[in-house]
Amino acid sequence: MGLFLDSARIEEVQKAVELGFLAGVTTNPTIIAKANGQPKDIIREICAISPGPVFYQITTKTPAEREREGREFYLVNPEKVVLKIPATTENMTLMARLSMEIPCAATAVYSGHQTIVACDAGARYVIPYVNRATRLLGDGCRLVAEMASVVKASGRVVEILAASIKSAEEATQAVLAGANHLTLPLDILLSLGNHPLSEAAIEEFGRSAKTGC
Ligand code: E4P
Repeated sequence: MGLFLDSARIEEVQKAVELGFLAGVTTNPTIIAKANGQPKDIIREICAISPGPVFYQITTKTPAEREREGREFYLVNPEKVVLKIPATTENMTLMARLSMEIPCAATAVYSGHQTIVACDAGARYVIPYVNRATRLLGDGCRLVAEMASVVKASGRVVEILAASIKSAEEATQAVLAGANHLTLPLDILLSLGNHPLSEAAIEEFGRSAKTGC
């Protein structure tokens, strides 16, 4: 199991690293655009402090440009960069080529059939957008469970990194549905270890400690 931060803001990455249980960092074009600086510099800076994989999503228009972009960003830090490739048949052909040398993740996966192809195209990770799938398809955790069954049937070593998680409860349900890892916004990541009843118990014990009973 790995807990990833979904952010490209270096101050957020630093805060998540300081938690001591971060597995790595995922980015996407929207959160890269919100961060300060050039994408390569941002990925380089994140790789320098992330304890594990740093995911970069390719964005260029043609397969040839995407291959160039993927190889360029992988070279920013070959020890840590994982390429996020949006799931389309055309991109799975690209992944089949790149995955022979570069760790790849099929992202924006919304179906079992895309998972079938991603497994055979060499994906190391498959990334479902859980909250989006719930809003658009009705049940994002059902998607995770379907993907988990497909991965098992494939016989390949592919890990499900559940993304688009918008609450601690949704994180729990995604793991129960079969996700191997989670990628979360910083506020959700920070909330995972807390519960109001735990806070109440701490206060109760604190009062007992003061009164000695
Ligand atoms: C992960 O990096 C995904 O790109 C991201 O979580 C997409 O889903 P969201 O925009 O609904 O969070």
